[in-house]
Amino acid sequence: MPSTKSKNKRVKEIKEDIVKDYNYLNFLYNATHPKAYCSSPPHQVYIEATNVCNLRCSHCPQSTMRRRPQYMDIGLFEKIIKELSPSKPFIDLYLQGESLLHPKIVEMVKISRDYGLLPRITTNATLLKKELSKKLIAAGLNKIEFSMSGATKKTYEDIHRGAIFEKTLNNVLDFLELNAEAGFPVHTRSVFVEEVKTKSDKERYYKLFSKLPLDDVYVSPLINMFGWNKEIDLNPFKKLPKERWPICKCPWRQFGINADGTVRACIFDYDSRYLIGDANKENIRDIWNSKKMQKFRQTVVDRRYEDFDKPGLPLCTECSQIWPTGNKSSDSTQFPQDFIKEMEAFFGKKQPTLKAKYSDYETKNKKAGYLKKHRDEWMAEARGEKEIS
Ligand SMILES: C[S@@+](CC[C@H](N)C(=O)[O-])C[C@H]1O[C@@H](n2cnc3c(N)ncnc32)[C@H](O)[C@@H]1O
Ligand code: SF4
Ligand code: SF4
Repeated sequence: MPSTKSKNKRVKEIKEDIVKDYNYLNFLYNATHPKAYCSSPPHQVYIEATNVCNLRCSHCPQSTMRRRPQYMDIGLFEKIIKELSPSKPFIDLYLQGESLLHPKIVEMVKISRDYGLLPRITTNATLLKKELSKKLIAAGLNKIEFSMSGATKKTYEDIHRGAIFEKTLNNVLDFLELNAEAGFPVHTRSVFVEEVKTKSDKERYYKLFSKLPLDDVYVSPLINMFGWNKEIDLNPFKKLPKERWPICKCPWRQFGINADGTVRACIFDYDSRYLIGDANKENIRDIWNSKKMQKFRQTVVDRRYEDFDKPGLPLCTECSQIWPTGNKSSDSTQFPQDFIKEMEAFFGKKQPTLKAKYSDYETKNKKAGYLKKHRDEWMAEARGEKEIS
């Protein structure tokens, strides 16, 4: 007979699943019937711990950003989390910048958990020292993504300017070992952006990283953010009449809070070209359906994208996110590329939501065993001193 304590725990979990599924179905309704007002709360909220970065990756518009350097105030962070907590969105603790530079990043993870939310981080992993990893795991980090565009020293260092291949890998391996020792509380994923410079490393990346106790070894398409990444040519798409342009679903799914508390309608808008509010002065839940956010959604529905463009500062008109470029993954923010497959999976309950793949405990445990025993060998393979077995 299960104890009352374990029964209560299960009841709590089921209630949380109901909220998640309800919000998700509501989001699907809004995304497939897009209107200015969005009755579902955001599925994901991105909170920028800092917009400061220690690297200058070649595919990232960080170096062109005009916003002033900023670290989010911890009091403001807690206010935002408290306001968001009833609707249980995923909390992504990054936008621009490198979140591990924030001296209170562990506290941010802890606060999110204390309010019942699931905090996630995407990081370049250069600052992920053992002590910090231990603290992040203990604080209740739900998921971590390691940005690793390149599976050779040459490609990696050419993309992630300022990082050293072996040092980053050692940080990642340390985190994976600590996570395994703790019983895999943190979901882990490596992210490799596919572009001309990295293409030749793709197969090697899969081979090498698939040996590690990660939940997912992921390849992400390169995004052309407002003309910055010219490798993705938008001109053939832009020839289509405007009424045949897809409606971008991002404004019904997520929004982003900058390190200074200002709120942007689109998470890709790294330079805050279109702001919709200020979390210092307003309740974040009200900003989700503020006049400015509703105007943004209506303009997207009407495909009047040029309404947001300022001279030399385009937004949706020069964004590749709405177009079927590259290898869109199952957690793509856009429909309908994988729509039928994704919805059948959702309604068939093969996967609870459109979230990243999670590997099972036995597989990860086996790979953790391999890592423990063969870490030096794996590093030799990564450095190219030994062929990948
Ligand atoms: C902007 S970074 C911020 C977090 C952290 N600094 C990092 O690098 O992981 C978040 C993710 O965006 C990815 N990214 C940056 N520019 C990109 C682009 N043009 N296309 C696709 N992904 C990009 C990075 O590789 C990284 O995985
Ligand atoms: S991808 Fe991340 S680490 Fe690289 S420059 Fe951009 S924000 Fe910094
Ligand atoms: S088209 Fe691009 S810039 Fe516009 S809302 Fe979608 S993701 Fe954001």
